Parts: sequence; structure tokens; C-alpha cells
Amino acid sequence: MNKKIIVAGIGPGSEDFISPAALKKIRSAEFLVGGRRALNQFASANQTIFPITRDLDAAINFIREKILLGKVVVMVSGDPGYYSMLDLLRKNFPPSSIEVIPSISAMQLAFAKISLPWQEATLLSFHGRQPAREALKYSEGKILGLLTDAEFNSATVSKILLECGWDKKSSVTVCEKLSYPDEKISVTTLADAAKAEPVKHCILIVRRSIQS
Ligand SMILES: C[S@@+](CC[C@H](N)C(=O)[O-])C[C@H]1O[C@@H](n2cnc3c(N)ncnc32)[C@H](O)[C@@H]1O
Repeated sequence: MNKKIIVAGIGPGSEDFISPAALKKIRSAEFLVGGRRALNQFASANQTIFPITRDLDAAINFIREKILLGKVVVMVSGDPGYYSMLDLLRKNFPPSSIEVIPSISAMQLAFAKISLPWQEATLLSFHGRQPAREALKYSEGKILGLLTDAEFNSATVSKILLECGWDKKSSVTVCEKLSYPDEKISVTTLADAAKAEPVKHCILIVRRSIQS
């Protein structure tokens, strides 16, 4: 295979956070693969599109077939290097046949929203998986950045953290719909988040207390 499969991040939602390099690749695609929302946002009439559904084998087969015919671009949310379809693509195609174009991750934007550096944060995902309890354990100065999903949402994850030794008054920043017009960022405590209406598919930033 000579041609590269382009995997382009589209950022967390708003086009403000897609990289110009990713946008350029998406616009030049002959075959454009992505979720329905991404296709609605970026596909143009001259492109052949393939919506990604639960049938991931179908997407892989489409890419395998079309890469022989022209330029294939796979759009993923946020940054491709952070919990995306890139893992699956690397299992099905040689890494040398894949070109990754980064964009802003929802995790980056969440930390930016509260002006907090993330170089020392522990970043973990509850999206379709559960981190090891050991990694979630409280320790002094620890900052957690967590991806969530429908099952492991703001309430269930908060309960797990209370079991992992975090104080009930620990600060939780719940970041919903980042970069969209209805973006919502709220600050609460672990005890209150555990009891409140669950927020799904958000980012949680958890720390012992708000320093500033
Ligand atoms: C499979 S992960 C994809 C992460 C993506 N590759 C990235 O770099 O942002 C999906 C999870 O990312 C988080 N997420 C993605 N977009 C978001 C947004 N606009 N606002 C809040 N959380 C978001 C949610 O936790 C969601 O369940």
C-alpha cells in the first residue's frame, strides 16, 4: 500500500478547535469516513462518505477498498492520539501507512477552561473502560482528568472516587459540551456530584481543593 490513510482530529466540537492542517486534509479527501455529526459538519458534495457506526469492520473494509482508489481521510473527535479509532486502524493497517493530523483534545480544552496546567495531572478514561482502582487512589496534590460515558458518568465516577479515598469535599469541575454554544462548566464537590443528576460524556477534573 503506497497511499497513506489520513486520520484527522476534528477537535471537541466547534471548528474553532480543529487544526488548519486537519481541515485542509478533510477538504482534500476523496473518501471521507467519520461519525454522522462530523460528516454533517465537514463533508462536501464531491466527496464519497462513509458513516462510522457500531459495525467497525464495515468501516475498516471501506478504508481497505478505497485507499487503492484515492485519498481516504478518517475523522475522529478531539485528537487522534487520545482514545480514538487510531488504535483500531493500527491493528488493521501498518502504522507506516497511517498519517495522523492532530487537533485539540477535549481534555486539553477542559484544563484550559479553568486555567489549570495539566502536565502533572493523572489523565484516565472511563469511556467504555474502567481505570485500575490503584490509579484512582487519592494522594496529596493529585489532580485527575477523567473522560466519562453514559454508564460511568459524573455521579457513578464520583462514587468510585469516594471509595478510592478522596474526601467528600474534593472539588469536581464538570465540563459538558465543551466548545459548543451550550457548553456548561460547573464546580461542585465529590459528595454532591455523587448525588446529583448524572452528566454523561463529559470531562471531570477532580482535585482536593481549589487552590486558586
Ligand atoms: C472516545 S473519547 C474521545 C476523546 C477525543 N479523542 C479527544 O481527544 O477529545 C470520548 C469522550 O471524550 C469526552 N469528550 C469529547 N468531546 C467532548 C466535549 N465537547 N465536551 C466534553 N467532553 C467531551 C467525553 O468524556 C467523551 O465521552
